[in-house]
Amino acid sequence: MIIENLIRENIKSLKPYSSAREEFKNSASNLVYLDANENPFDTGLNRYPDPQQNLVKAALAKIKNVSREQLLLGNGSDEVLDLIFRVFCEPKVDTVIALPPTYGMYEVLANTNDVGLIENYQPNVDEILKAQNSQTKLLFLCSPNNPTANSFNADKIETLIKKFTGIVVIDEAYIDFSSQESWTRRLNEFPNLIVIQTLSKAYGLAGIRLGACYSSTKIISVLNKIKPPYNVNQLTQQTALKALQNSIKTNNEIAIIISERNQLIIDLEEISFIVKVYPSDANFLLVKVDNAIVRYHQLVEHKIIVRNRTNLPLCENCLRFTVGTKEENKKLMNTLKLL
Ligand SMILES: Cc1ncc(COP(=O)(O)O)c(C=O)c1O
Repeated sequence: MIIENLIRENIKSLKPYSSAREEFKNSASNLVYLDANENPFDTGLNRYPDPQQNLVKAALAKIKNVSREQLLLGNGSDEVLDLIFRVFCEPKVDTVIALPPTYGMYEVLANTNDVGLIENYQPNVDEILKAQNSQTKLLFLCSPNNPTANSFNADKIETLIKKFTGIVVIDEAYIDFSSQESWTRRLNEFPNLIVIQTLSKAYGLAGIRLGACYSSTKIISVLNKIKPPYNVNQLTQQTALKALQNSIKTNNEIAIIISERNQLIIDLEEISFIVKVYPSDANFLLVKVDNAIVRYHQLVEHKIIVRNRTNLPLCENCLRFTVGTKEENKKLMNTLKLL
């Protein structure tokens, strides 16, 4: 597969903006910076951040065992997803495939970028491959999937990566809660593979907005051309670096969340109006109830906010419960028993 042929012509010929911090790189101290129209009075934040987030990338690259050149960071994975659309999809011409019910931003970004969305409701490899044509540039596989919480079968993913004629984007926002291995391990085998991850879930840093994109150096270099110069701010870079250096805390929290999730599955099955608790490879549970609208409002009255997913395809009467702390989950269970 020749990746170059999938990239939009205007992006291929685009000359990226060159920021002051890109043009002059030097780690020497006592330099007088008069190049970026910054305020010279030191607040700790008066300088623009590193546009390539080198320290954060070095930490992530080490953890994920990839090279820094295979990594792009964004203002949340939502920004990364948008960059992918803009590199590969010609508005009004190209199409992408998503597999509903899934993460809603694929559809929103397709609409924002004026790109056709092909939806395949029963994710079956043959059907997905049949749905593509020469204008289909991206296939989104969310694994573990939001809101269903299940992972896509690894053999099926591999077949899709090998046979799909565009780019396969595997969204691994919830991978740290999963029993499956990350596809970042296999990046070097597949030139058309992009893996997206985030610090918003397992790392407990949704507030800083940091998403990561792993792919071939070729794809990363093109995404880099169009990213806003300082898309990851200084505070985010500092906080992310600290978190990445404290894997014990993160791993401990992941273990607690998984254990709480498994206990919640057992407890929820005891509730009379719960029809089904779907298996989960993530930090949330999709739960079918007798009447999602009624149960949602009852929970709100008890100050417990869950997500009503009943309007999504194949999710009739389904609520999505994020796994909380032990105390929060206990409160959820005690409340459900009262309803
Ligand atoms: C599957 C999936 N991908 C991406 C995101 C967005 O992640 P971020 O906070 O990094 O933008 C979410 C958020 O809920 C998600 O569920």
